Amino acid sequence: MQPVDLVIVLVTMVVVIIGVTALFAFLGRVPYVPTPGSTARAMVTLARLKGNEKVFDLGAGNGRILIEAKRMHPSLDATGIEFSPTVWLLGIVTILLSGQRVAFFRRDARKIDLRDADAIFLYLSPHLMAQLEDKFDQELRPGTVVISHAFRFPRRQPVEVTKVQRWNGLKTILRYEW
Ligand SMILES: C[S@@+](CC[C@H](N)C(=O)[O-])C[C@H]1O[C@@H](n2cnc3c(N)ncnc32)[C@H](O)[C@@H]1O
Repeated sequence: MQPVDLVIVLVTMVVVIIGVTALFAFLGRVPYVPTPGSTARAMVTLARLKGNEKVFDLGAGNGRILIEAKRMHPSLDATGIEFSPTVWLLGIVTILLSGQRVAFFRRDARKIDLRDADAIFLYLSPHLMAQLEDKFDQELRPGTVVISHAFRFPRRQPVEVTKVQRWNGLKTILRYEW
């Protein structure tokens, strides 16, 4: 293969990756924006896990919240759900490199059975929070903990709100109990 052919292949791959990521961000109406590590750790702390619960991250990005959760509580049963195929692939690679056991599925969070969830992490959008609130009302067991970065449910009140200082301002984390 000539160097020029290699460049064409690489450029095509980058364009396809960017195109697929943009398409799924448009379809899902939520772009991939990773939660910073310190905020992810604060989310796990606010969940006050005992250590053996079944936890989900809906819209899990590269899986970093669940990776932090497993580092803090190695016996957790952790499942990530990610809609975008390219972000999901990034998550698979990140989880493999982390050495943590996290199940990671490319699915739509609105179609996942959450009846056995003990805790759920979210960093999504107002639009998805409204849709998930209805689903959670129907499916979640009483006492299920939901930790949301930044976004509120339209009807339900959080039981606790904390702030994390970052270089670009304060980040809000909300704890809900169903
Ligand atoms: C703001 S990012 C947060 C990523 C990760 N949870 C974090 O905090 O680092 C939101 C992610 O949700 C994904 N997403 C959007 N709609 C979704 C849906 N219906 N089901 C599953 N994932 C979805 C997006 O592809 C994106 O990667």
